[in-house]
Amino acid sequence: MITYFNGTFVPKDDVRVSPDDRGFLFGDGVYEVARTYGGKLFALDRHLARLRYSLDQLRIRGTDVDRLGDVCRELLRQNDLGSRDAVVYLQVTRGAAPRTHAFPSPAVGPTVYGYAAPITPKFDPGKGVAAITVPDTRWARCDIKSVSLVANCLANQQAAEAGVFEAIFVRDGVALEGSHTSFFAVIGGEVRTVPLTNYVLPGITRGVVLELCRSNGIPAKEAPIFAHQLNQAEELFLAGTTTEVLAAVQLDGRAVAGGRPGPITSRLRELFCTFSSGPAE
Ligand SMILES: Cc1ncc(COP(=O)(O)O)c(C=O)c1O
Repeated sequence: MITYFNGTFVPKDDVRVSPDDRGFLFGDGVYEVARTYGGKLFALDRHLARLRYSLDQLRIRGTDVDRLGDVCRELLRQNDLGSRDAVVYLQVTRGAAPRTHAFPSPAVGPTVYGYAAPITPKFDPGKGVAAITVPDTRWARCDIKSVSLVANCLANQQAAEAGVFEAIFVRDGVALEGSHTSFFAVIGGEVRTVPLTNYVLPGITRGVVLELCRSNGIPAKEAPIFAHQLNQAEELFLAGTTTEVLAAVQLDGRAVAGGRPGPITSRLRELFCTFSSGPAE
């Protein structure tokens, strides 16, 4: 695999990350995951805008984010992924410097890494997946796409050990999002997902789903999904770059929508697939 590392394209095995890298020592970095449909990058501008936001919030300077679009395309080209569905991963850390909590002074350049790989779906969208709810043990800046994902890893491991696909974080009685997906409910015929706050990632797929609801006359609102409402929801679904729109047909061992993808979820999945296979942004 050919990867991108600090300005050059190199075989993955030749990448050398310093043990002083602040991504390694502190999780002091951010990332993005975009994907292609038929070789075309989907919503790349939105992903780069979110990367810019994450970098800005952490005050990680010195990355030419505009150039990273070309890096993504070159990764796809060099790895022969021009005609198949693939993910592109980008990561930027604050760089390598002797370990101190405060930012290095003088500042060092960021470490920038990227790779592209074929997508291998781990679910059957026609069947949907199961999920569990877990307490949200993450920090209070979940709006930043930080590489500090250990709380997400622990939650997802709990899901794996329970034999289910996703763990949905619940904080102060509100179901926020999954360990690696945005979370939606259909309540009273209306699609609902929590409003954007510091406690959720502004998911790119989430945004597209809300736009698709609006442009197709599907009632939708951004409002809290209270944990106590979950068993009244007609449908539940997840949304994410690699997950797309995916029905959650079981939550905490209880069947949702009769244990099959419900009609609104299925329609949104269809609309999303049509939209994502359209012209690249
Ligand atoms: C915590 C979390 N929420 C939501 C999402 C979905 O975001 P996107 O649609 O941009 O992939 C992700 C994706 O990785 C995530 O990690």
